[in-house]
Amino acid sequence: MNIINLTGDELSPDGLKEQFAMDVLTGLSSSPKGISPKYFYNDHGSELFQQITESEDYYLTNLEYEILKQHGHSMAKKLKETTDIVDLIELGAGDGRKTTLLVNALNEAGVKINYFPIDISKEAMEQMKEFLTETDQFNITGIVAEYFHGLNYLRDNSTNPKILLFLGSNIGNFNRGQAAGFMRRAWRTLNANDWLLLGADLKKDIDILHKAYNDSNGITRRFNLNLLSRINEDLGGNFDLSTFDHYGSYNPLLGAMESFLISKKNQSIYIKELEKEFHFKAFEPIHMEYSTKYLEDELLELGKTSGFTVEETYYDPKKWYSNFLFKVIKH
Ligand code: AVI
Repeated sequence: MNIINLTGDELSPDGLKEQFAMDVLTGLSSSPKGISPKYFYNDHGSELFQQITESEDYYLTNLEYEILKQHGHSMAKKLKETTDIVDLIELGAGDGRKTTLLVNALNEAGVKINYFPIDISKEAMEQMKEFLTETDQFNITGIVAEYFHGLNYLRDNSTNPKILLFLGSNIGNFNRGQAAGFMRRAWRTLNANDWLLLGADLKKDIDILHKAYNDSNGITRRFNLNLLSRINEDLGGNFDLSTFDHYGSYNPLLGAMESFLISKKNQSIYIKELEKEFHFKAFEPIHMEYSTKYLEDELLELGKTSGFTVEETYYDPKKWYSNFLFKVIKH
């Protein structure tokens, strides 16, 4: 497996720490306070997220796996109608389980694959190596870069048809404006007739959502609190985790689960790296994350307004989760 590192100073350890410090400064100085969910995923946070995906309450990962298992072959046949070789580009390195399903289906249909995972973490890329084995029908080139930097690089360096994977309902962690921006940027970096396979969680009974984001083993709670530990470790903060509660709740106006950490008391937190104290009133929230849920129509509209047509839609039997195969239209 080849690894191409496109990162400059901004993604060096110092550059990333500076960015984290600035985002925490802005987030904790805002009203309401908030911290970007992209900072959940340090080593421990990634481990906790992995545990969430294995928990019974968090249905998303398992359902997507089942959908790809069920429909991977027909998807592969469809792609084979137009090409014998494909660049399979995945945003986020993942653990390789879902990728393996698609790779096997495509190879069995006779499609050769150049697989390009794009991730800003070199470590995530290295770990992924352990789960995937190269063959002469399947080769891997890891791209260490921000998503669109990596995509631009591939657009400029390969003329093969492309299928872009954005799975796991990661689109849900964008607000709706950001999601539309993401889709249009994806469209810009792909060529006419390339594909986008999008995994998106659907609107459903609110109790099911509440359970998924307040799992009975408290892993989601620890996942959220871990971000405060990360501030303590990386930026010299003095958060006492026992003075914050996790609260996950559905906002029907946004159509999104929202996660908060709520200060149980009046308190001040000092962050050494920022040389600054932040005051929390009793019951004051820090907004941590949106997990937006979609209606089928909303996903169709999102694709259409971004320049895609829908080739196929795939669901689990209960229609809790969806994978949409979009095709790029350019005139
Ligand atoms: C990564 N992302 C799609 C997850 C989600 O469902 O929004 C992150 C997560 N947050 C809490 N549980 C899982």
